[in-house]
Amino acid sequence: MKIAVVGTGYVGLVTGTCFAEVGIEVTCIDIDQKKIDNLHKGILPIYEPGLEEMVSRNVSAGRLNFSTNLAEAIKECDVAFIAVGTPPGEDGSADLKYVLAVARGIGENMNDYCVVVTKSTVPVGTAAKVHKELKDALAKRGANIEFDVASNPEFLKEGAAIDDFLKPDRIVVGISSERAEEVMSRLYKPFLLNGHPIIFMDIPSAEMTKYAANSMLATKISFMNDIANLCEIMGADVNMVRKGIGSDVRIGHRFIYPGIGYGGSCFPKDVKALIKTASENGYEMQVLKAVENVNDAQKEVLFDKVSKHFGGELSGKKFAVWGLSFKPKTDDMREAPSLVIIEKLLAEGSTVSAYDPVAMEEARHSLGDRITYAKDPFEALVDADALLVVTEWPEFRSPSFEVVGKLLKDKVIFDGRNIYDPAELREIGFAYHCIGVKTAHKEPA
Ligand SMILES: NC(=O)c1ccc[n+]([C@@H]2O[C@H](COP(=O)([O-])OP(=O)(O)OC[C@H]3O[C@@H](n4cnc5c(N)ncnc54)[C@H](O)[C@@H]3O)[C@@H](O)[C@H]2O)c1
Repeated sequence: MKIAVVGTGYVGLVTGTCFAEVGIEVTCIDIDQKKIDNLHKGILPIYEPGLEEMVSRNVSAGRLNFSTNLAEAIKECDVAFIAVGTPPGEDGSADLKYVLAVARGIGENMNDYCVVVTKSTVPVGTAAKVHKELKDALAKRGANIEFDVASNPEFLKEGAAIDDFLKPDRIVVGISSERAEEVMSRLYKPFLLNGHPIIFMDIPSAEMTKYAANSMLATKISFMNDIANLCEIMGADVNMVRKGIGSDVRIGHRFIYPGIGYGGSCFPKDVKALIKTASENGYEMQVLKAVENVNDAQKEVLFDKVSKHFGGELSGKKFAVWGLSFKPKTDDMREAPSLVIIEKLLAEGSTVSAYDPVAMEEARHSLGDRITYAKDPFEALVDADALLVVTEWPEFRSPSFEVVGKLLKDKVIFDGRNIYDPAELREIGFAYHCIGVKTAHKEPA
């Protein structure tokens, strides 16, 4: 079987590489010549644990190729995945111009039956638009070639993408013909050997499933942040409340950690897009609007704690920031809460020294030289007035607090991810602020 994956970003590169890993011949296509040139040299455009080694293995085996030549790849493939970006347009709806441009390109070049699969996250109705683009492009050529369109939303998590792809909780495929179902079953068979289900459904339901999944996860996060804020006001400890409710199997322990708001390339844009889709169809997503509002406010909570602690006088202060990426094990900075916090600190005349194990290069695209980038977590602390923990990278979980206390000007920690033990830190003289737990020490007057 031969496939083409169009769009070689987080999703496309992982998808293509994992299909190659199980023996399928894959060409990953991108319009970004530099990205493809780098991939030919073994330089990956993203950080994803384990991916570099897997790419190199499959390239060496001749199963994984990279190219900017869509026409060549499409001529030969049984399945073409569309995995390009669907960024939010100005009104919040998913911008489909990249998806539809690829569909057109496929229609202009295919010369045999092919299943064209949307893997990008796209609103209900997009497969129909893709179908039309393909049909129009074929008609223009006077070509009478059969094809099917399918929807196969991707559920991988950045930072655990390979495992998620190779051992998926489930694979969702929207189809409208038995032939497409048969092709997709064959393609995914190697991933189903351990009993992971493939769920076939109609195309609109598959398209909606992805938005519903991300919206549900975003809802859990915002709900818990709302509870955390109330805990803080009422003198309850959200860490205890989390354990208390998580033990109920109907609720579960995952995705109920309070923090400083969700970020990344998916939740913010997908929640927005679903709200927009609903409103365009005369329905108001009341829960999701609240989810979004809570999240926007939550991104400012850590800054507010900093400001309160220092009596609003942040000018001339220096802050150490640990973690920049929107979550650990990725270099993805899209919609990262760190950006909101750092911009607010800079606007107050503070300086920032940041450290992140992999995201500093990406962070430079938006923050440039307006902050300093430390070579290790401890360098960031030197002479800082406080430490802000923004991303819960494993290496930040158990630092030597003796060293942290010595390097900081003041023993003050703002922990946006609740990774430390408040009692332990208080015991060794730190002013420790976290999320959803009332600060027990006395605030400076
Ligand atoms: N990143 C995630 O964790 C994740 C998870 C699930 C689903 N998704 C969805 O998958 C889609 C892709 O997301 P991503 O994070 O991989 O995006 P990305 O920005 O990392 O990659 C998109 C790639 O598509 C390329 N591209 C754009 N137009 C092209 C064209 N006409 N031909 C060929 N290549 C083209 C870009 O150059 C880029 O390399 C989005 O719809 C996203 O919502 C993302």
